[in-house]
Amino acid sequence: MIFQQLFDPASCTYTYLLARRFGGEALIIDPVIEHVDSYVSLLERLDLKLVKAIDTHIHADHVTGLGRLRDITKCVTVMGEKSGADVVSMRVREDEKIDVDGIELRTIFTPGHTDDSYSFAAADRVFTGDALLIGGTGRTDFQNGDPLAAYESLFNKLLKLPPETLVFPAHDYHGNTASTIGYEAAKNPRLQVKSAQEYANIMNNLNLPNPKMMDVAVPANLVVGRSVSQFVRPGEELDVEQCREARDQESVIFIDLREQGERERDGWIASSLHIPYNCLDSQLSPSGTLSRIARDNQGHIVLYCAHGERSALAVDTMRNAGFDGVKHLKDGLAAWVNSGGEVEFSA
Ligand SMILES: [Fe+2]
Repeated sequence: MIFQQLFDPASCTYTYLLARRFGGEALIIDPVIEHVDSYVSLLERLDLKLVKAIDTHIHADHVTGLGRLRDITKCVTVMGEKSGADVVSMRVREDEKIDVDGIELRTIFTPGHTDDSYSFAAADRVFTGDALLIGGTGRTDFQNGDPLAAYESLFNKLLKLPPETLVFPAHDYHGNTASTIGYEAAKNPRLQVKSAQEYANIMNNLNLPNPKMMDVAVPANLVVGRSVSQFVRPGEELDVEQCREARDQESVIFIDLREQGERERDGWIASSLHIPYNCLDSQLSPSGTLSRIARDNQGHIVLYCAHGERSALAVDTMRNAGFDGVKHLKDGLAAWVNSGGEVEFSA
């Protein structure tokens, strides 16, 4: 595995880059906006293609690099379903799998530090965000933090992982880089408690100042999706009503860009085709199915995904590849469902 642990000294944030060599696809966890250019250089040096960028939660001490990375690399942005961010491409739930070219991460919902905190477990390691730190745990006194929920996340989820599991947190303020579940269970001072209430009493009396960047970082991290509108031009974006009209009046082909797991979980618009976003490049080659469909049905293609981010990026990609007139469903299947649109599931 290619594994890089990167550090932002201003906020003491750890960012992780993971890849296997097969197709050179990579994912990044908790990127910091000031370092996006260096991440992109590193990806180039390692000959990797960034396909997913994940934030463990809405950070209060730095602005996320998710949006800028997406704007540069057209990667898929990922957060947990409880996240308050306006748009991320993919929202994952408890115990979902995130696959990237031979790397499999499993989602563990670990609220407490914030109400949108998720950890991500691979075979031998877990990325804990701020839920579990080395020799500490994430504060629970803002962003809907809850020490009792944190206790549950720690004792009934993270500490139930095998003791040899490597722990990689989102922060360390003392120069530590990694630990193990077993070591933290035995030595982390915050975890040497006999009850949830004892833990809550500790957490409720920390009296910490707010992070310096909080007033800037949190609002910025909630609007990570806003800049995605730059990728679509007038007329390329249809709202749900326009999509319905188009479908009723003409032979529109809906193309679902989501992953198979999202389709099974949330269903799809009836009679839409499935072409996953991560296959876009090969699908747009002269022999690709999508390029053939787009050539034969110019002006009648509507792309959609979960929230309208991947589809906006794909419209731009297709236009740049010479396929004009492709449209996308604004705000994705979520908007379709919210306005009463029906979805299909396999029998
Ligand atoms: Fe945090």
